[in-house]
Amino acid sequence: MNVVILAAGQGKRMRSDLPKVLHPLAGRPLLAHVLATARALAPGRICVVYGHGGERVRAALPGEAVAWVRQEPQLGTGHALAQALPQLGAGAQTLVLYGDVPLTRAATLAQLRAAAGEGVAVLTVELPDPAGYGRIVRAGGAVARIVEERDATAAERAIREVNTGIMVLPTARLAGWLARLRDDNAQREYYLTDVIGLAVADGVGVTAVQPGSVAETLGVNSKAQLAELERVYQRAVAADLMQAGVSLADPARIDVRGRLECGRDVAIDVNCVFEGEVVLGDRVAVAANCVLRNARVAADTRLEPFCHVEDADIGAGCRVGPYARLRPGTKLAEEVHVGNFVEVKASTFGARSKANHLAYVGDSAVGRDVNVGAGTITCNYDGAAKHRTVIEDEVFIGSDTQLVAPVTVGRGATIAAGTTVWKDVPPGALALNEKTQVARGGYQRPRKKK
Ligand code: UD1
Ligand code: CA
Repeated sequence: MNVVILAAGQGKRMRSDLPKVLHPLAGRPLLAHVLATARALAPGRICVVYGHGGERVRAALPGEAVAWVRQEPQLGTGHALAQALPQLGAGAQTLVLYGDVPLTRAATLAQLRAAAGEGVAVLTVELPDPAGYGRIVRAGGAVARIVEERDATAAERAIREVNTGIMVLPTARLAGWLARLRDDNAQREYYLTDVIGLAVADGVGVTAVQPGSVAETLGVNSKAQLAELERVYQRAVAADLMQAGVSLADPARIDVRGRLECGRDVAIDVNCVFEGEVVLGDRVAVAANCVLRNARVAADTRLEPFCHVEDADIGAGCRVGPYARLRPGTKLAEEVHVGNFVEVKASTFGARSKANHLAYVGDSAVGRDVNVGAGTITCNYDGAAKHRTVIEDEVFIGSDTQLVAPVTVGRGATIAAGTTVWKDVPPGALALNEKTQVARGGYQRPRKKK
């Protein structure tokens, strides 16, 4: 089978410089969703017809093993399919999909394909308000042709069964039918929909198939429709998660833009966003307003509210946040505590180590059972290069310490509060900067004049 994805249209009503099929749904371009569905059907060839937005569309989906066909100018859906013709393989059937209809299920398309057999099958739906769609005109119960709204009579406009645009056609017949299309219609376009009437005239059977839900056929023409489909998608993801045993405080307030894998008894509070690949182990709790991108969180860990985690690995039994930021390359072993307003980047923490308040730990290897005091900062950047800080096991770092990298604090060492550590500290030592404290008695603070 061949799959042709029509994606050359402009999408004027999006009022955007971004080509319509590149607008994201659940974090991925609309077209990427359609491609994934197409791929699930294992077709011999996938062809994408692009045009509006030009090379940006191609460039946004690098590495896709598809035949790209440019349609320029865009003279209608029939003209679009005709551009793809030379690319089509010998596969008996050609499935036409739209790049802006992202939620069609592969199972529905498989059903459409089976229904087509040697002939044609069209995916249709009954809509309470069919405005804007092509109408399915039947004669004696059988599909006779499709008429576009703008070309329809008042009686035809009253028909509520509409063309979703998705259809399966016999490849061998396509060249003949497409050559016979004319643009003598209201939009002066070559309508793919006119192929249905031609098939019927040639005695080829046309079957109409209905999907499980209307959402499968909804296209995106405006920002409002895009947002609507996003909610449809997210509701389905939330339902799947709950079905798998995940507790969601509110299934309407979770966004998964990628893949979220959860163990048993995971609980997710409201307004959390999961991007890329996120794995949550058994009994992980994610409090409100956390954003996780490409993260692995092991069992029994709790993320307090407002944590931001990206490309990070969090061990078992950790406590993170509230307001923690774990940046790429963060690896926490088990039972680590990273508290409020702590930023960690490209650093490892050994078991049971703690950085509970207001710290920056970057490019560091922190051992086990380390205490990083409030206000501690690794000075990892000298304006040109990044340098590493090594903090060995059982080190205690007093509050308001600066660690000027590259520097190593030896095992079991203690850093006094307010120290600038600019040389390595031997194991077991106490490091401090000698300072004095002077107290002058009877000091008169300047006063504002009344
Ligand atoms: C089309 C159908 C209509 C159907 C509706 C469903 C035709 C003539 N009409 O109408 O029966 O009810 O879809 O949404 O087919 N495209 C190209 N090149 C072009 C024109 C369009 O690639 O020259 C692509 C668009 O990017 C889009 C799809 O084809 O993915 C449909 O185009 P659109 O303009 O949205 O068609 P409608 O007028 O909505
Ligand atoms: Ca449309």
